[in-house]
Amino acid sequence: MPARTIAIASDHAGVELKALLGDELRAEGYAVLDLGTMGPEPVDYPDYANALAEAITSGRAGRGVVICGTGIGVSIAANRHPEVRAALCHDVTSARLAREHNDANVLALGARMIGVEAARDCLRAFLKTPFQEGRHARRVAKLRSKA
Ligand code: RB5
Repeated sequence: MPARTIAIASDHAGVELKALLGDELRAEGYAVLDLGTMGPEPVDYPDYANALAEAITSGRAGRGVVICGTGIGVSIAANRHPEVRAALCHDVTSARLAREHNDANVLALGARMIGVEAARDCLRAFLKTPFQEGRHARRVAKLRSKA
């Protein structure tokens, strides 16, 4: 069931954090679609962010977690896809608000910027927090138009 399937992807900088968060997701009962990378060899972060965005766009996964060193490159790349609302989060508050206000469907993390516990907190908030709808729904709808 796509809503219970979470796609995960990272470049080489995020591969360890990706593995850890993948285990956390499985322990919480989610199906995990791991799109790589799988090892420490340097790769190009847009390739992995694009693969994750395509999984969201096609419906293979309901949400995603994408990781690079800073989280910046993958969030830029993922947000070029119209169906993706990727939020780069550094703490639990930003992750909660990304869901409540922005209906973020992708959590972007910087593996070289935050610790493991903060990343776990972000993931848990991202998973459990509902979108608040209301005035936020109007604003999120405007994200689809260019100007
Ligand atoms: C890789 O060295 C690094 O540039 C990448 O992980 C990411 O931080 C890019 O935004």
